[in-house]
Amino acid sequence: MGTIKERFKVTADAANTEIKELLKEHGSKKIGEVTLAQIYQGMRGMTGLVTETSLLDAQEGIRFRGYSIPELQQQLPKAPEGGEPLPEGLFYLMLMGELPTEEDAAEITSLWQRRSHVPNHVFDIIDALPINTHPMTMFVTGVMALQTESNFAKEYAKGINKKDYWNAIYDDAMDLIARLPRIAAYIYRRKYKNNDHIQPNGLLDWAGNLAHMMGFEDESFKELMRLYMTIHADHEGGNVSAHTTHLVGSALSDPFLSYAAGMNGLAGPLHGLANQEVIKWIFEMQEELGTDDPSKEQIEEYVRKTLSSGKVVPGYGHAVLRKTDPRFTAQMEFGKKHMPDDKLVNTVWKIYDTVPPILQSLGKIKNPWPNVDAHSGALLVHYGLVEYEFYTVLFAVSRALGVLASLCWDRALGFPLERPKSVTTQSVKLWLEGKGEIWE
Ligand SMILES: CC(C)(COP(=O)(O)OP(=O)(O)OC[C@H]1O[C@@H](n2cnc3c(N)ncnc32)[C@H](O)[C@@H]1OP(=O)(O)O)[C@@H](O)C(=O)NCCC(=O)NCCS
Repeated sequence: MGTIKERFKVTADAANTEIKELLKEHGSKKIGEVTLAQIYQGMRGMTGLVTETSLLDAQEGIRFRGYSIPELQQQLPKAPEGGEPLPEGLFYLMLMGELPTEEDAAEITSLWQRRSHVPNHVFDIIDALPINTHPMTMFVTGVMALQTESNFAKEYAKGINKKDYWNAIYDDAMDLIARLPRIAAYIYRRKYKNNDHIQPNGLLDWAGNLAHMMGFEDESFKELMRLYMTIHADHEGGNVSAHTTHLVGSALSDPFLSYAAGMNGLAGPLHGLANQEVIKWIFEMQEELGTDDPSKEQIEEYVRKTLSSGKVVPGYGHAVLRKTDPRFTAQMEFGKKHMPDDKLVNTVWKIYDTVPPILQSLGKIKNPWPNVDAHSGALLVHYGLVEYEFYTVLFAVSRALGVLASLCWDRALGFPLERPKSVTTQSVKLWLEGKGEIWE
């Protein structure tokens, strides 16, 4: 059988051979056309890269290696007490392309436990930042400080055969994922819990330990963390955080540099920061309306006010999806099971009833339905995690699973430096006038 690392190499070698054959036979086939509008408008719908770990369907939502979220909830290994999947199993699935056994998931749990030591200088660097620093800035700074530990950077400096890149990248990916819960929890306890830190528990799984180190011992919160870490992990390759990690990695920047770059993108309000924006927006609505249980009519009025002041309704819309995000639905199911009477959670559901028809009526929004961020904050608040500026850090810890599994594949498949062509408007105008090609 061999270790997971050895088995990954065998799987990747087979995929490499298959892709070479595929390109030999079909490499010149056209996959689509690029319009002028697409190059000006964020490359929407332009197929431009390969990401093996997951695929997004506009109508159905995300599938990880072919499995939908409900299928994963059924088929991935679970913690002994729990009903939600272990993110360790999802990582295995994304890396290996097949469902893990209970033993495979347990092997990853113990591997990450063994690799989870964070050197002191990382904490010192986080401590050097002012306490009012945004948690995402602290997080990315911590990841950058951890870059001193990169195997790949050390091996590359010594001189490494390009066939062996994947090996050091794999080790870095595992080390980094293993250490992220400790860094995230440290930031949480430093910023919000008076620097009163909690030591890791070597008997817990990756997500359970994160909950523990943050100070949440409720078993159903640990369940939420397992679900949260599973559903936020990956959303195919074109989103800002995945694409950035992949792009920076293509320059052979090590996984610490590449992942930190990606997470700077996740920290934007149109991407991962939307999870804090949603709850901030709901809290502001409650304050303005003077109630923690607004009616649908009150919500409708508040939504219209948000739109007329030129703001987006956070948590709604998507660049690719055209239906309710199944990650929203999975969280809704969790809410129905664990906290059906929670007022904030019920407000999220009323917003879900109210917002789509309003957005639809504007006629310009391609997707009026909720995305993952519309729901996550309300579940966290239920357990007392009210510090919403921290939410994107949780998203970032989860997103490591997808983008780093992908980075292992990028190097194992020998993907080259990514370098698309850009043009100037001047060159576009000349081309439209028939005076030369667009790239001249
Ligand atoms: C996710 C998002 C950035 C996708 O952007 P996109 O692909 O450009 O979306 P569309 O093509 O539907 O946008 C068309 C128009 O509708 C607007 N729009 C899209 N979603 C909107 C929303 N939730 N509220 C108000 N307006 C919205 C856009 O701003 C754009 O307006 P413009 O033409 O005046 O510039 C966008 O829907 C958004 O800003 N949503 C809120 C933030 C959020 O939840 N982000 C997390 C994503 S997982």
